Amino acid sequence: MDRPGGLSAIGGTPVVRLARLAGDECAEVWVKMEAANPTGSYKDRMALAMIEAAEADGRLRPGQVVVEYTGGSTGSSLAFVCAVKGYPLRIVSSDAFADEKIATMRAFGAEVELISSPEGITPDLIPSMMRRAAEITAQTGGFATDQFNNTDMVDGYRRLGEEVLDQLPGSPPVSAFCSYVGTAGAYLGVSRVLAAARPDLLRVVVEPAESAVLSGGRAGTHHIEGGGIGRRPPQLHPADYDEVMAIPQAEAFETARQAARAEGVFSGPSTGANITAAIAIARRLGPGHRVVTIQVDSGLKYLAGKLYS
Ligand SMILES: Cc1ncc(COP(=O)(O)O)c(C=O)c1O
Repeated sequence: MDRPGGLSAIGGTPVVRLARLAGDECAEVWVKMEAANPTGSYKDRMALAMIEAAEADGRLRPGQVVVEYTGGSTGSSLAFVCAVKGYPLRIVSSDAFADEKIATMRAFGAEVELISSPEGITPDLIPSMMRRAAEITAQTGGFATDQFNNTDMVDGYRRLGEEVLDQLPGSPPVSAFCSYVGTAGAYLGVSRVLAAARPDLLRVVVEPAESAVLSGGRAGTHHIEGGGIGRRPPQLHPADYDEVMAIPQAEAFETARQAARAEGVFSGPSTGANITAAIAIARRLGPGHRVVTIQVDSGLKYLAGKLYS
């Protein structure tokens, strides 16, 4: 399908094999480089999918206000898609998330409201953002993309999974996939495609050790943006994964820095969590396998924060 302007640049990202961090006595670790998308994040795929599906079935009308609660990655991608397609966008976010993301949403013309949470991502932050977005939707008669409950956004990641299958044919086989979960959209969309092609795929969800709710722990405060929301993502069910790995925030941050310096994979904390988990799985599986994970977004989104300072 032909799409206008920058929308045609979404997807078709490279996949790279880690050369140094993983070592020789383990499975190959492959990272899908989603920072190559126009706003530097895999969220461009889901923003486009949510808007196009709503246009197609009439839930979204020309010129209607679009409303979303977001840590800023979904918001940046929605702001980009809405700008090209001419929809006004109202965003509810927080100062718990990277300044660069807030600035990106505004650069594309979105109206952004911030909820103060200077201590970080607390268990009640996302619910309070959701409540405020619902108020704005009611006031404006807007279309709420409601990312956590939106099934179109999961479908938006199917192509990412198909690209991985095309890019990594043959041997050794893709034996495992792991991904940090917020909405769980990327994890679900990709793991379903990979598991359909490889029924014995090991499917691993990744969460912060400081808020390891899927592992049976308590909700807590942390700084791995984009996930660890303090409750189970509504679309993620226990049958959707084989294992949960809880990664300490300090390890995720350290791996992100090492991935930049040793591999040239320049990313944020959630990618650090993904690569930490992928390397652990690769060591367990040993040679003769491929482990796939995702570079969620670009390190450029985190230069003003603590990660690289
Ligand atoms: C930086 C970052 N990492 C990871 C995720 C998790 O992605 P998903 O919502 O598809 O589970 C998000 C989602 O907002 C994110 O912004």
